[in-house]
Amino acid sequence: MTFEFEIDQGATVAERYAALSRQAKSLLAGETNAIALAANFSALVYHGVERLNWAGFYMSDGDMLVVGPFQGKPACIRIPFGRGVCGRAAVDRETVVVADVDAFPGHIPCDSASRSEIVVPIIIDDTVFGVFDVDSPEPGRFTDADRVGMEQLVAVFRDQLSVALRTNGVA
Ligand code: SME
Repeated sequence: MTFEFEIDQGATVAERYAALSRQAKSLLAGETNAIALAANFSALVYHGVERLNWAGFYMSDGDMLVVGPFQGKPACIRIPFGRGVCGRAAVDRETVVVADVDAFPGHIPCDSASRSEIVVPIIIDDTVFGVFDVDSPEPGRFTDADRVGMEQLVAVFRDQLSVALRTNGVA
């Protein structure tokens, strides 16, 4: 299997995320290994969305968020709930978009190139599984259209993960 990333420069942001969501569905379909799903999903986003320097997961171990599969430079391993952008999104159960990471109180710097960030929580059966965190070297990189698109994309991952957890008797 090979995966091509032809970003249609003429497409709107919404169309690009819709196309990526379709690719994500076919990439993840039928797989029930959570790490495999997360690894391929982070690679899809990292290569399919432009102007990023990090894309990946922080997964709850019950007490903290722990780094999971990602693309980009090595990152901090554990983030307490409520700390940083990731911990905030996990506690509030809402997507957090940060236009300027230096202006976000408590932002946890991992890659000094990161200037803006979006974090989407992943909720399954009313439990926070973790968050999907995406960083950009460009200030204000993530618009509201990116938020809507990224939430749609992460929902594809969440739905397949939910199937995987049920199949494995975890949820
Ligand atoms: N900046 C994040 C930490 C994770 S890294 O960006 C990969 C935060 O403040 O939660």
